[in-house]
Amino acid sequence: MQIEIIDKKNQDISADCEIVVVVDENIEHRFIKDKKLLEKLNFEAKQDSTCFLAESARLYVGAKNLEHDAIRRAMGAAIMALTSYSFKTLKTSLYISQDVEHSTRAMAEGFLLGSYKFDNYKSKKSKSKIEKIYISTESYNKSIKFNLPSLTSAIQTAKVISKATNTVRDIVNTTPHDFTPKSMAKRAYKLANKYGLEYNILNSDALKEQKMEAMLAVGRASIHKPLLVQLSHKPKNPVATISLVGKGLTYDSGGLSLKPSDYMVTMKQDKSGASAVFGIMQAVAALNLPIEVHGFLAMAENMVDGSAFKPDDVLTAKNGTTIEVRNTDAEGRLVLADALSYAQQEVKSDYIFDFATLTGACVVALGHYTSGLMGHSSSLKHSLFEAANKSGELVGSLPFNDYLQKLIKSEVADVCNISSSRYGGAITAALFLDRFIEKENKDKWMHIDIAGPAYVEEKWAYNPFGASGAGVRLMLSWMENLIVKEKGKNGS
Ligand code: BES
Ligand code: ZN
Ligand code: ZN
Repeated sequence: MQIEIIDKKNQDISADCEIVVVVDENIEHRFIKDKKLLEKLNFEAKQDSTCFLAESARLYVGAKNLEHDAIRRAMGAAIMALTSYSFKTLKTSLYISQDVEHSTRAMAEGFLLGSYKFDNYKSKKSKSKIEKIYISTESYNKSIKFNLPSLTSAIQTAKVISKATNTVRDIVNTTPHDFTPKSMAKRAYKLANKYGLEYNILNSDALKEQKMEAMLAVGRASIHKPLLVQLSHKPKNPVATISLVGKGLTYDSGGLSLKPSDYMVTMKQDKSGASAVFGIMQAVAALNLPIEVHGFLAMAENMVDGSAFKPDDVLTAKNGTTIEVRNTDAEGRLVLADALSYAQQEVKSDYIFDFATLTGACVVALGHYTSGLMGHSSSLKHSLFEAANKSGELVGSLPFNDYLQKLIKSEVADVCNISSSRYGGAITAALFLDRFIEKENKDKWMHIDIAGPAYVEEKWAYNPFGASGAGVRLMLSWMENLIVKEKGKNGS
């Protein structure tokens, strides 16, 4: 599907169907040519609701305002409504909030994210017929000064980021039988070759050499051995260095602390953290961002057999901390303990982010659509809030405190892998990770629990049933803001 911005009035563009956004239920706007009919049909034009008028070949879609995400969602809803039809070409106009470039980009993202389909396991595939979408420079709200190449480049950026998001969706939606730690290593290797990224892999033997006993214990009962992949994007004169660490459980059965059947279904999603890091690396490389970025994909499968690690085991993590295992289902933090320690040993970074479907408690706290931010630095949190706002991803902050810290105390080892209380589980999991963050890195680190939005069993906004690709747009927006800030500092 191609998206093209055209410097023509909407009516002068020929296309099979037109998408018209009804903003804030304002049916009086000059763009609404079927006002009477829409009134007869009682079309309320709430956000994301659509009304297709066959005779005029117009699809009306509601948006609550002109903000980026309202328009991104409207375009997503429109494309979802139109994919089953046989239209080959669509047209629409510009809907602008603050700046044209970002609005154009949001529109293109809505189209590209909304048209995603995962039907690898369906015997009948349904391919969308839509080949081209024209965006007219005729604007809904203000007459704007625009620079056509900059809008074309905004569409290009949207393409790269949406493609990366859709790749993450594909990976996460793939079954645990078809996607194992090795599959991730292969994908990463291919990506590295395509873009000239540095690639390094630690197999089980290398993990042993690195004394990553916690990660090894989690993967021990699986026929698919754990591994850690590092991908590095190293441009000349980077404005900053960033490490991204992802939880990549290709399946989480819970281990000996076996999950009840109802909770086990969907646990192919437990690789969403590492998959997000993969997607971010893909976009960073394709956009050739002036940031040095290291992605660490910590892959394992949490299974059961006679060799499984057990509640009562004590594991020594890479940084020497001993961990009392009281629940083998709290395995993500064990994998991340070692992966975070390794990442800090390998690279001195300005920022460290980890992405993980870490806790059900985070979903209880924030609901299905919002990622949880946990860390020490309020300014870093603030910058992530800003990026979330721009990208359309939702984030909420869950605060640390000393009282919760006490709940992961162990009588047997340095720390326990579960909390002694049933409340505040997202935060106690993050406080566990904090034990593996070195002192000088405390303010550089943020834990992002994506258990809520990574995989949702219903379609929401421009996200389909299943994997959403959470984390990719958030991080890319954050990086773009960082580049602007750092370049501003240097006066370039
Ligand atoms: N992978 C799960 C967390 C999860 C739950 C992700 C729901 C996505 C949706 C994680 O490994 C886990 O099982 N966590 C336990 C921790 C508990 C044993 C302390 C949980 O959240 O119940
Ligand atoms: Zn688990
Ligand atoms: Zn898990």
